[in-house]
Amino acid sequence: MIDCVVWWARPVADPGEYLALLTPVERERYEAYRQDADRRRFLTGRTLARTVAAERLGVDPGDVEFDATCTDCDKQHGPPRIPGVDLALSISHAGERVGVALTAGAPVGLDVEAASRRADDGLLRYALNDTELAALDRLSAPERTDGFFRYWTRKEAVMKATGRGLRIPLQSITLSPPGEPARLIASDHPELTPEGTRMADLDPGAGYRAAVAVLTMEEIEVTERWWGPMPDSHGQ
Ligand SMILES: CC(C)(COP(=O)(O)OP(=O)(O)OC[C@H]1O[C@@H](n2cnc3c(N)ncnc32)[C@H](O)[C@@H]1OP(=O)(O)O)[C@@H](O)C(=O)NCCC(=O)NCCS
Repeated sequence: MIDCVVWWARPVADPGEYLALLTPVERERYEAYRQDADRRRFLTGRTLARTVAAERLGVDPGDVEFDATCTDCDKQHGPPRIPGVDLALSISHAGERVGVALTAGAPVGLDVEAASRRADDGLLRYALNDTELAALDRLSAPERTDGFFRYWTRKEAVMKATGRGLRIPLQSITLSPPGEPARLIASDHPELTPEGTRMADLDPGAGYRAAVAVLTMEEIEVTERWWGPMPDSHGQ
């Protein structure tokens, strides 16, 4: 059994006290975001990841260094890893949510999306293959948008677990329909097999959808926790 812990937070309101934890490269990325909201999401993701990883490893947050080398261009904007330790992590942010998933012994991918985002036909065709589009069509109109975000977050979580992200075509895998427990049914991608892919839907609060994927043959046990106050039933 592989334990997977997912930490949720809201973007920090006041960056002040957290900025000191960023490395110079992270500070550069932070400064490069034009929108304040993007800066705060990035800062919160790295702060939360560093804090929960440090707790797990029994070290100070300032001693946790991420290697986020992109496999395509060598820049530090790829999937973050902590060299030399058996701890995998994945960061995701959207709107007022920031999440970090942690596992030991298997790669992990996390995705959170604001369910208010528009899901037009172009996005549906980009993400879903014919089998999945047919399953979505069988849902009633009100269930369809929610169904799409279930598919989307599950798929992106799987792709993030590989470390390749959206470089792998989303249509190359087929997932179970949104109303069923999340699982990989078929894959055209050699790295991803139904036996070696576990996933779960998550609960980041009202107005958001999220999923986590772990690349393992073992069963997974997922626990969700909040860093800071949990949102109320309206997601605030
Ligand atoms: C990673 C990716 C899935 C992000 O999707 P998103 O929904 O916009 O953003 P999310 O908030 O869910 O995830 C962002 C986080 O994913 C992580 N990440 C970046 N690249 C990743 C990858 N290839 N695989 C897994 N995780 C990745 C980072 O931690 C990033 O957060 P941070 O840099 O702020 O710490 C998508 O941008 C992607 O596939 N990128 C790789 C391909 C690409 O565009 N390359 C261009 C640069 S050469």
